[in-house]
Amino acid sequence: MRQTILVTGATGTVGREIIKQLAMQNATVRAGVHSVIKGENLKRLPGVEIVEIDLNDPDSLHAAFTNVDQLVLVTPLSENQLEMARNLVEEAKKQEVKYIVRLSALGAGAEPGIQLGRWHREMETYVEESGIPHTILRPAGFMQNLVTYSSESIKREGRFYMPVGEGKVSYIDTRDIASVVVEVLMSSDEHQGKIYDLTGPEALSHQEIATLLSEATGKKIDFMNVPEEAVREAMLAQHIPDSITDALLELYAVYKAGKSAKVTETVQELTGRPPHSFRQFARDYQECF
Ligand SMILES: NC(=O)c1ccc[n+]([C@@H]2O[C@H](COP(=O)([O-])OP(=O)(O)OC[C@H]3O[C@@H](n4cnc5c(N)ncnc54)[C@H](OP(=O)(O)O)[C@@H]3O)[C@@H](O)[C@H]2O)c1
Repeated sequence: MRQTILVTGATGTVGREIIKQLAMQNATVRAGVHSVIKGENLKRLPGVEIVEIDLNDPDSLHAAFTNVDQLVLVTPLSENQLEMARNLVEEAKKQEVKYIVRLSALGAGAEPGIQLGRWHREMETYVEESGIPHTILRPAGFMQNLVTYSSESIKREGRFYMPVGEGKVSYIDTRDIASVVVEVLMSSDEHQGKIYDLTGPEALSHQEIATLLSEATGKKIDFMNVPEEAVREAMLAQHIPDSITDALLELYAVYKAGKSAKVTETVQELTGRPPHSFRQFARDYQECF
């Protein structure tokens, strides 16, 4: 891989894994970071250059895109995400980027779907209408969300809290998403214009997830089903904007109804390897819990 690849959202849950795996392929990688301090760890990876960007500010994108061949377009879950995606696609067009891999979300194509999916679908259309060859990836919820959002309460109380009842979810390991990104970039001709639904190998309830975390860590970890209103209050206390809170609660309701249990074979088909199971994820990340 001799192309220069820009990855946005590079310090985020999925972005940093994409950077790591591209670095292992000896790619020339530009990590688009919101804050250089958060990007310090990425700097140590071979072939990785850090560029500071603010996705809200189109002027900040110009230098980051210079001589970029391929863009891995990751946006944060933000009130401004549509504008951010538009800014990135516009700059990609201006600087004649040759290929875009868009990180979207499972269910983005559903009708009428949920707000999160509708936002993602709209951002997909910016890429589709750009005229730039592209591939769209639609991953399920990330296994690593357990680390980001629940590791503190698990370490402190041996519990994690979600308003999802007994609904099963086909969570995916971000390492598998990153492997798919690498495959798509390496063989982009084969994947051009495709949309791939990416999931883990099985759908699990959060009780089953708690059991697997307990097995891996050797300590008792419980899942606590909580009312939606309790989660809304907690998000309010964290100053999460109402539109994002509503969208996340809508997603949790979908989880609770068992409508996020779809399992696909796409990771195996594209990478030639089975996706990580939750059991393996729990073993590999046991120290986080
Ligand atoms: N999490 C899931 O389960 C899941 C499932 C399917 C799809 N997705 C989608 O995947 C995407 C990435 O999710 P994620 O969980 O990896 O997100 P994340 O961990 O919140 O990462 C977001 C990244 O965007 C950066 N960022 C935020 N504001 C920025 C700005 N103004 N300018 C430049 N960079 C900015 C953040 O940097 P700072 O932290 O420094 O601000 C961070 O690196 C989202 O579109 C999400 O909807 C997520």
